[in-house]
Amino acid sequence: MTIGFVIGESKPTMVRAQTARPLAVGEYVIIDSTEKKILGLVEKSSVSSAAFADVQNYEEAFESKEIAESNIRDKSYISNIGILGFLDGLKKGTPVLPAIPPIPGTAILTATKEDLGVIFGPNEEVWIKIGKLLRNNTIDAKINLDKIVSRHLGILAMTGMGKSNLVALITKEIAKLKGTVIIFDYHNDYTFLDIPKINVIDAKINPRLLDADALSEVLEIRENANVQQRVLRVALTQTVKESKEFWNKLEREVDIIINSDDKKEKENRNSAYRVKDKIDDAQHRFADILDPDMGYPLSFIKEGRANVINISELSEKQANVALAFYLQELLRDRKESSAAKNRRSKKQRDYKFEWPIFVIVEEAHVFIPKERDTTAKYWAAKIAREGRKFGMGLGIVSQRPRSVDLNVLSQMGSFAIMKIIQEDDQRQIASATESTSRELITQLTSLNVGDAILVGQWVNLPSLVHIEEVKEKKTGSDQSAVSQWASGKKMDGIAVESTQDLIQKDLLLE
Ligand SMILES: Nc1ncnc2c1ncn2[C@@H]1O[C@H](COP(=O)(O)OP(=O)(O)O)[C@@H](O)[C@H]1O
Ligand SMILES: [Mg+2]
Repeated sequence: MTIGFVIGESKPTMVRAQTARPLAVGEYVIIDSTEKKILGLVEKSSVSSAAFADVQNYEEAFESKEIAESNIRDKSYISNIGILGFLDGLKKGTPVLPAIPPIPGTAILTATKEDLGVIFGPNEEVWIKIGKLLRNNTIDAKINLDKIVSRHLGILAMTGMGKSNLVALITKEIAKLKGTVIIFDYHNDYTFLDIPKINVIDAKINPRLLDADALSEVLEIRENANVQQRVLRVALTQTVKESKEFWNKLEREVDIIINSDDKKEKENRNSAYRVKDKIDDAQHRFADILDPDMGYPLSFIKEGRANVINISELSEKQANVALAFYLQELLRDRKESSAAKNRRSKKQRDYKFEWPIFVIVEEAHVFIPKERDTTAKYWAAKIAREGRKFGMGLGIVSQRPRSVDLNVLSQMGSFAIMKIIQEDDQRQIASATESTSRELITQLTSLNVGDAILVGQWVNLPSLVHIEEVKEKKTGSDQSAVSQWASGKKMDGIAVESTQDLIQKDLLLE
């Protein structure tokens, strides 16, 4: 259906159009060029009324309204339409831009399902549906799962805009395909996710598996307490690590330093006492978190399932240690696994995961921060660089993109970006994504909950979509304080009634 015409000066990358109705920014249209059909994306849209163009006062405005209503030529709907390429090329996944700008007078047509379906929702198994195009809402929006496992994914938006919902949706779909997903859940958002056979693991740390630096972080020895750190380094011997009684043995090693006659060690005695206190303390305070007798941490993760590693009970430092440990081990495991596939001779299997895995890190600005070096960041960066070769995809999620390490962020091959108002955040996203999507990024402030801009390798074209809501997700959603107060009041009522009951009974008894 013809909805307008190219007007004014056109370029090979952009045309202006006058249309019969106002077009929505983000809407796809067809430019019916004589050469071949061209796909365009509405990037700017404006409406004006001749009658209202030069209104000076209320009376004029009042009269203009009548004139405007009776004059079919009154309104002007102008839009800027970015040219994405020839339609047939895009359908085959090879965008070709026209060399010659569309001639003014060329018709603008509505894009049909037939035009867009193949581009945004290809019918192949690697493409899964995550919603509909926001402005052409009869068209399914699909993403290519292979690309996020091989080239990583960034999910960025303000709080409450639907990041976790998208994570849940993707996780659900991967689990359906018997793929392995591992989510590091810092806010206990995913443990109640209604996914068949979901595997929830309370993160624990096995202190035997840590080096002295990591252990001192876990024990909350201050970063600048150099002597304490040295004491721990000396005490944490291989024998201690392998001993049955890890904590006792570790304390005994510290005792040796405390009781030493060595002049130098004597100076360190106070620090050694403090380390001993810390070890003592940790066994009580972190009894649920530090477990020298737990098995190998990866053994709790299940292949072919959605795994949620609950790190919500851990302090930020502990979570960082745990995350770094898991990331390091997962990468090592995938390397072993890939190496075994290439080996002819059958060595005994010394890895856990046979097939590719997808790992999701929430709160990326905490664990992969811009201005500090953390061990988790070191491993995340390594996975971002090398994961592709070993079938290990990384998904990073953050509500503060400006504070996420740019190096890691720019390694993400695909992005879902929901509403973001802060300009610093937008700037960071623009530098992490390719230049073609910058026009869409200007739309970020006007998105609603669940609306997202998808860019990168997981889509054929940058697109504006509305993501489906995963209804079964039971937590993480905004809680209504008012309804909770109300039910709290009801409970109070019951409590009062029952105490009055008791009082009355008491009175009766007297
Ligand atoms: N695609 C969507 N459609 C409708 N509602 C959504 C959608 N995504 C999220 N929501 C709602 O918005 C709220 C916050 O979503 P959530 O995914 O937890 O946001 P975030 O992780 O970005 O803070 C939830 O109550 C959820 O139900
Ligand atoms: Mg969230």
